[in-house]
Amino acid sequence: MALLLSPAKLVLLAVHFAVQADIPSLSALAARHGAVLRKDVLLRIALTYLPETLHSTEYVNLIQAIESGEFPESESVEIDCSPVAALTDDDATKKVRKLRLTPLSFPEAPPGTADDPTTLFLLRRSYQVDEEAGLLDELPALLLPFLDHSPCIRTLMVSSILPLLRRNCEYYPQDPIPYTLSGFQQLPDRVAVNLLLSQTGVRDTDLPLVGRDLKNIIGPWLFNEARWKSDNRRLSGSGESPPKSDAGPDGTICPGWEQVLQWLNTNAAKNWKVAVSAIEQWDGPGDVDLGGWSAMWLSDEEQDHLEQRYARAALASAYLIPEASPEALEGAYRIVAKIAGLLDQDPMSPLQSALAILPPLAEQVASVATAARNASYMRNDLLDNSNVLTSPTAASTAFLQALILSAILLTRAGSPCTVRRAGELALLQDEREQKAEASKLIHALNNNGPKTDDKFWIKVRNEILWLKDWGAEDASEASKPLAKGVFGQVKKEFLEVEILKALLANTRYMLARSIYEDSPDRPLDSKVLQDTIYATAMTAYDNASNPNRTRGGLKKCDEILKAFPQTIDKSAPATKKIEALLQATHALSEYRLVLKQGEPFTPVVLRVHSDPISIIGKILEQNPKSYTRIHDLIDLGKRMVQAGLIKDDNGSRGPVSQEDQLSVAARRITAMCIDAALTEDDFETAYSYVVNRISSFEATSKDEYLWKAALQAGKYRRTSRTVRPTHLGTASGNPEIRHLEQRIECLSTALRIAPAPTLQEILNAFRRAEEELDAAIKAEEEQEDAWDAAGDAMHGHMPGGFNVAPTSPKSASRPSAPSTRRRPTEETPMSLFDLSKASVMSAQRNLTALSSLQRSTGLGRSNTVTSGGSVEQVGSDGEDGGQKRVRKRDQLREAAMGTLVSGVGWLVGAPSPAPAAERE
Ligand SMILES: *[C@@H]1O[C@H](CO)[C@@H](O)[C@H](O)[C@H]1NC(C)=O
Ligand SMILES: *[C@@H]1O[C@H](CO)[C@@H](O)[C@H](O)[C@H]1NC(C)=O
Ligand SMILES: *[C@@H]1O[C@H](CO)[C@@H](O)[C@H](O)[C@H]1NC(C)=O
Ligand SMILES: *[C@@H]1O[C@H](CO)[C@@H](O)[C@H](O)[C@H]1NC(C)=O
Ligand SMILES: *[C@@H]1O[C@H](CO)[C@@H](O)[C@H](O)[C@H]1NC(C)=O
Repeated sequence: MALLLSPAKLVLLAVHFAVQADIPSLSALAARHGAVLRKDVLLRIALTYLPETLHSTEYVNLIQAIESGEFPESESVEIDCSPVAALTDDDATKKVRKLRLTPLSFPEAPPGTADDPTTLFLLRRSYQVDEEAGLLDELPALLLPFLDHSPCIRTLMVSSILPLLRRNCEYYPQDPIPYTLSGFQQLPDRVAVNLLLSQTGVRDTDLPLVGRDLKNIIGPWLFNEARWKSDNRRLSGSGESPPKSDAGPDGTICPGWEQVLQWLNTNAAKNWKVAVSAIEQWDGPGDVDLGGWSAMWLSDEEQDHLEQRYARAALASAYLIPEASPEALEGAYRIVAKIAGLLDQDPMSPLQSALAILPPLAEQVASVATAARNASYMRNDLLDNSNVLTSPTAASTAFLQALILSAILLTRAGSPCTVRRAGELALLQDEREQKAEASKLIHALNNNGPKTDDKFWIKVRNEILWLKDWGAEDASEASKPLAKGVFGQVKKEFLEVEILKALLANTRYMLARSIYEDSPDRPLDSKVLQDTIYATAMTAYDNASNPNRTRGGLKKCDEILKAFPQTIDKSAPATKKIEALLQATHALSEYRLVLKQGEPFTPVVLRVHSDPISIIGKILEQNPKSYTRIHDLIDLGKRMVQAGLIKDDNGSRGPVSQEDQLSVAARRITAMCIDAALTEDDFETAYSYVVNRISSFEATSKDEYLWKAALQAGKYRRTSRTVRPTHLGTASGNPEIRHLEQRIECLSTALRIAPAPTLQEILNAFRRAEEELDAAIKAEEEQEDAWDAAGDAMHGHMPGGFNVAPTSPKSASRPSAPSTRRRPTEETPMSLFDLSKASVMSAQRNLTALSSLQRSTGLGRSNTVTSGGSVEQVGSDGEDGGQKRVRKRDQLREAAMGTLVSGVGWLVGAPSPAPAAERE
């Protein structure tokens, strides 16, 4: 039932209902007055006056009715005309003129929509609702019925509203994009992508949702022909020349997609977990969720282009991961495995099995590894179509796989390596770099590897060899070009030697022997093997902290030499030398020894010591009574010589033979023991060494030590601290006299062996000792005379005629005093002092006395006893000790004279006993 209202009033009433949001009345009015309330009028009224806050569901049916012109049955609806009833028609007409209904068309309207008021309405209404009411989520209800009405409605829905809704309302409502729908649509693609993904993967808890965002936000966002540009359009549009590399096969490009790829690569470099998550969780441009509002729409070519670019970006991401951790590298592996799958290549083995198998990749990757001698491709132009490293081909993915496996092997072993670093090693093939890396790897294995697990070491060796050639040896056809691995330039021998060293350092002796000595294809030349074994044994030695050869480094050194019976000959000079070194070092372990303040002695100190024999001096200082072990110490010196530790001080003398070294060492150690004994006031021992040991050495002009020691012994004066003799011969009851005699004997020994310029000093000492002896004898005689007198006086009172002198403790030990008395008839021997005085004073004169002295040959030692023990006692227990002593003294003097004649005879013009006059 039509109302009897003027057209103006009808319009005003419609506006009224629109303002009131009285949709039923508006609908009924429109249904009855289609002639006046035409489609475009109604849509403009709705656009202008329907409240933006109105729920879409309340008026979407009306819009559908307006669009179709088929309004629902509304006869029953009472239309209240009162709002316009009071108006005159003129007033109504005037009011209508002032309505200023919003036009439907607008400048940014998509092309082809000019004569489609419904589409124009929906677009404008959508922007309005979003802008004025912020009710983006009301739009689907409004637009869904019109998806098929016009492509641009679907595009708006899928490409703009859906991504924004998901981004702002559903996924990250706390951090929405601060743009209206229309503002968002006008953003450049670059900005839009970065905004859409600005929260993606930002929090660790969001990592599992990275793929979702690409699939549910980026996927729909790409649903827009406007995102695609042909080269030509872009050229004419912007004036800048497009990077050819971005263009698809048909010359089209998708800048938004390129931006997504940039985002991916940026994350790979800065926050690799996001990139890895993205690629793992998302199957690429075909994997999109359009909310059920559209089906896949890309052309095959377009999709292919996006996928190729995506694969390239994913491979680039793997190169860009900057971290050398197992997790990051495993992530890189998952990337390349995933991409190989997306590219329909042969499926890549899971990481763990690839690491176990170590696939032969050398042949497969040869084209990439050799063509891409250019490591800069790993840094620059990663997405460039000319970049062979990231091109989505089987060779590129295999090459990347080889790099990642290499980096993982290195990193796992404790020598962290990024994918790019592995790439540089493989592409640049710089021998020095590779060698450094190999050394670092083996060093790390040495420190981190399990020490006792042979399986581990077998695996490690296979891995190192694989790193050299990426399994090239397994490839049967040698004619094909093969890539070299990250250790491609490193000599196999170098690697094997380093592996062998590591095996030995980790006590894998049996394994080392089975690989390098027993296996038929002996990987090392036997000379190299031998050198390595010696070197490693010495390394173990030098690393030792304990000189005990049954412990630590020395034990290792010993075991290493014994581990290769076919290679290391026990009697080889090098082996014997090391054996002597071990013996010498072990001998040191028996003593307390500190060379530097507070630092305990370590074996390497011995090996590099500039004067190892001096260490024996330290032992003597630091170990009381150790001089009594003179035999052991001389033996120790001998080992040092045999171990080649003595640095030749050949100086003017030319090379020193081992015999000479042994002799020098023995002399020096004997001298050290004599000095040590004197320092510890053990004169008896010093004396016995002088008398017994010095004589055992052949006279040599090289001696620098013994004469000094003998001189020191000769100068020694008894004190209360002096160690008492453990055994006294009967020869000399008077300890003072005995001591002086011993000293003189020492001095006479010194005279025999000392170099000419030192004789005067010894003579002086000799003279003083002789004077003291004379004085002591004289004193003794006087005392004896006194006792004799006293004894005669007492004799009558003592039964048995024994001489007892209870007042003198000394005499108690001297049963036969008269025996030491000098016979006046005996010729007083010429004092050496006189002789020396004469010799010095009358140097030019011929001393006949000297020639007579030449006859003397015997030496005092004829009556010494070598005990073989620590202290060699001199026993002279003839019943006529006094006689003997006098004779002995003469002998000593004569011995000294003999030396003098040969030594200083020239000084006094005496004939030499031997034709050896070379001392001039
Ligand atoms: C290395 O890169 C340069 C430019 O970066 C290029 O001109 C050259 O052809 C590349 N060489 C190889 C072997 O790829
Ligand atoms: C060096 O000695 C240390 C302990 O003193 C030991 O842990 C290490 O394995 C040794 N190194 C070699 C190469 O023998
Ligand atoms: C050397 O070490 C063994 C145990 O390994 C020990 O029995 C021996 O006494 C040590 N030798 C010395 C001289 O310390
Ligand atoms: C010792 O002799 C060797 C071999 O003749 C020679 O090479 C070296 O230079 C000599 N050393 C000195 C200190 O003269
Ligand atoms: C030293 O004396 C001997 C024998 O008495 C004699 O043969 C010799 O010529 C003398 N020498 C000198 C330099 O007078």
